[in-house]
Amino acid sequence: MYNSKIAGLGFYVPENIVTNDDLTQWMDTSDEWIQERTGIKQRHWIADDSNETSATMGAEAAKIAIERAGMTKDDIDFIVFATLSPDYYFPGCGVQIQDMLGMDTIGAIDIRNQCSGFIYGLATADQFIKTGMYQNVLVIGAEYHSNGLDKTTRGRGVSVIFGDGAGACVLTRTEDQTKGILSSHLHSEGKHAEELVVKSPSIKHWVPEIIDSNGEDLSYFPYMNGTFVFKNAVVRFSEVIMEGLTANQLSPTDIDLFIPHQANLRIAQFVQQKFKLSNDQVYNNIMNYGNTTAASIIIALTEAWEKGKIKDGDLVVLAAFGSGFTWGSTIIRW
Ligand code: ACO
Repeated sequence: MYNSKIAGLGFYVPENIVTNDDLTQWMDTSDEWIQERTGIKQRHWIADDSNETSATMGAEAAKIAIERAGMTKDDIDFIVFATLSPDYYFPGCGVQIQDMLGMDTIGAIDIRNQCSGFIYGLATADQFIKTGMYQNVLVIGAEYHSNGLDKTTRGRGVSVIFGDGAGACVLTRTEDQTKGILSSHLHSEGKHAEELVVKSPSIKHWVPEIIDSNGEDLSYFPYMNGTFVFKNAVVRFSEVIMEGLTANQLSPTDIDLFIPHQANLRIAQFVQQKFKLSNDQVYNNIMNYGNTTAASIIIALTEAWEKGKIKDGDLVVLAAFGSGFTWGSTIIRW
């Protein structure tokens, strides 16, 4: 059987930076509250007069990843696109990438797994490569959150944490069984779907709600039971990291770099302490980007790689938890 490894990485964030202080023009919040609870200092939000979207940002990140892989668009066999903020209700963003990059009529799918979207996307691409169906798969995570947030005081418990951005990687076939993705571990628990949700648009709600639009209707904005999500996140992160390590006869001391989904710095710090990882063993960048959901792990992975924090042979552990609930981990030997 083949194995898969990351051949190229790229990320793209919109130019417009929104600091915590900037948010106070729309809502009653403070830099102190946001930093203390989440670690976030700023995020990138697509400017109002920009035409950028999840697909356009994903395309920019993809171009960088393909070039760094030493490939061209014609080398890519398949596209996997993870997002919760697609340009259209349907079709998904994957097909837009095929068009934007001028690719041949290769297949494209969208993954709808929110914060775990990139982990699920990577696992999907990995399976296509392991079975020999494809040689090079483009995996993208991208989010355009800012246009869908409730930026009033009413929505501050959610809106301050999210940022816009995209990341991409090219996953390629290798015959070296000791390198690349060693294993992926995926989970879900749908009974908690409504603890972190955008209810509309949906076939059930959107038509009646658009016809009878009502100012009190909050179903278009994300709802999050933050404390409940936080408590579940720290448990599931820990479980799925151990599951991945155990499956490969590894332990936390073997980790060279842990890249958690950037949901909240306090969650990442909890996991870091639990596994007794040093600051050098964990990469966080939520301070600068906020929670970019499906894009967060791939943006952090790319940034860590660009800074020279990942060396040949390193054990890299990725883990995510989010809406669904869904969670997962990926164990990579670089
Ligand atoms: N600024 C100032 N005050 C605020 C803000 C804000 N931005 N937001 C909430 N508050 C207030 C609340 O009104 C509340 O005030 P009260 O006590 O007078 O009622 C108080 O602060 C505490 O609010 P909580 O919501 O209980 O704050 P909490 O400590 O839970 O922190 C947070 C909120 C940061 C969102 C946290 O719950 C969290 O990080 N949860 C997990 C997020 C996560 O992991 N999500 C998963 C990924 S996202 C995805 O999958 C799409």
